[in-house]
Amino acid sequence: MTRVTLLDILNHDITQKFVKRSGLAHAVATAEYAFKLSKVHGVNPDLAVKAAFLHDIGHYTWYRNGKWDYSLYKENDIHAIKGAERAHKLLIRLGEHPVNAKKIALAVLLHTDSYLPDGELTLDPLQHVVALADKCDEEPGGNHHYKTISDNDAEVRLSKLDKQVEKALEADTNAQSASVS
Ligand SMILES: [Fe+2]
Repeated sequence: MTRVTLLDILNHDITQKFVKRSGLAHAVATAEYAFKLSKVHGVNPDLAVKAAFLHDIGHYTWYRNGKWDYSLYKENDIHAIKGAERAHKLLIRLGEHPVNAKKIALAVLLHTDSYLPDGELTLDPLQHVVALADKCDEEPGGNHHYKTISDNDAEVRLSKLDKQVEKALEADTNAQSASVS
């Protein structure tokens, strides 16, 4: 099965519409953080970068009288729920394995608890890495959603990340077959 790449994801219409709405620069930076964190936490780098890149795909902008309204957002936001569903649909359309698509969708669902009633979430390592990567790129007042990046820069950075992920997956496979033989 050929790997669905970050570039495949970037170039899909659903991504172009919804990831750009919540901030392409933030999505790319979060994916880069997730790759680094995946090594530290022993998590599959492919799943980590995809979930991180797509984590805010469900965002909707809450405006009142032309201005961002945080209380309206806080009251009505379900971006993680919507994002999980949207990311899953997109990945399945691109040919992602259903087991991986589910893991990625769950990491998107649980990357924030801002929409949940008070309580504690217990995250698995992949979900933890994605939530942490998001925090690494966070700026006060939600400014990370408004950082900009050109289409070309996004493509260059994601393609570099694709190569790093593929190298890491290959090294992992080699290490596993060496331990079996
Ligand atoms: Fe985010």
